[in-house]
Amino acid sequence: MTLQIQDMVVEYRGAHGRMVRAVNGVSLDVAPGQVIGLVGESGCGKTSLARVAAGLLRPASGTVLLDGVPVAPLSWRRRASRELGLQMVFQNPYSSLNPRRRIVSQLMDGCPAELAGEQRRDFAVHQLERVGLSTDVVARYPHQFSGGQLQRIAIARALVARPSVLIADEPVTALDASSQVHVVTLLADLVRDSGMGMLFISHDLALVRHIADTTAVMYFGKLAEVAPSARLWERPAHPYTRSLMAAVPRVAAGAGLPEALPGEVPDPARPPQGCTFRPRCTHAAEICTKTPALVPHDGGLAACWLAGEPSIPVRS
Ligand SMILES: Nc1ncnc2c1ncn2[C@@H]1O[C@H](COP(=O)(O)OP(=O)(O)OP(=O)(O)O)[C@@H](O)[C@H]1O
Ligand SMILES: [Mg+2]
Repeated sequence: MTLQIQDMVVEYRGAHGRMVRAVNGVSLDVAPGQVIGLVGESGCGKTSLARVAAGLLRPASGTVLLDGVPVAPLSWRRRASRELGLQMVFQNPYSSLNPRRRIVSQLMDGCPAELAGEQRRDFAVHQLERVGLSTDVVARYPHQFSGGQLQRIAIARALVARPSVLIADEPVTALDASSQVHVVTLLADLVRDSGMGMLFISHDLALVRHIADTTAVMYFGKLAEVAPSARLWERPAHPYTRSLMAAVPRVAAGAGLPEALPGEVPDPARPPQGCTFRPRCTHAAEICTKTPALVPHDGGLAACWLAGEPSIPVRS
């Protein structure tokens, strides 16, 4: 199933009851077997977009379609999004597991309705095997696992619902470096083997580069750039993408600390006129006082008046 997010707008009530726009007109497709990476600084609206896509939050406007059929915003309790084939994996695996119940019974709850009795247990155990856990863990409780193991269990819990699209919001941010690699590799394998699509959200551009076919870069509620990951990494079109790349730590000896991104994300209550990255952009020109549209550029999309200008140096 293809997940289509169209013209999504998410607003929250801010100070003095004024509405603050967290997502401002984002469109994104996730096709079967495809990994879309969504990157951007803290507060740019990634989780808000994920939650409306999963039907957990009602957007101010915009549509979510699954294979062309609109998904109405649904409450998490009703679990209807699960039946529609959407599952979410969160940053903190504890948040999706009940501390007082054994792992296996929690997984069995999410099994397809047509399975009964022993079949449910077998199916749940099979999902645990798929995420690389041995079957002797089934009778344990959540506190008896490490963070990396728990995130695998949370993924297994999502898999029992046989999702056609998995939305993973910072699934490895809370894990140590080696568990991060294991869980990301696991997710990539699952997508390859099952043909499900995945929206993989992370503020870590280096990680996304390895797993995502296409990378979408979000800034201040909008997409700044969308491109095949290899192209994005080789020839970033948007100055914001370049700044994010320059901020990726390098492990090489003598590499020093990465460059911090200059300036700060604007205050959502007072959005800048024109291009919202303009106050932080070292290349801003007169034209940037007008809002750039997200238009085709170099095999992808970019929202920058100066995208592709040879005068913009690649900061690497
Ligand atoms: N429930 C809420 N009520 C009010 N404002 C909110 C709410 N949730 C998020 N926001 C605001 O919306 C904006 C986007 O938040 P969001 O959590 O979507 O960002 P994010 O990109 O996921 O950030 P992070 O990388 O830190 O997870 C932020 O300015 C945030 O303060
Ligand atoms: Mg978030």
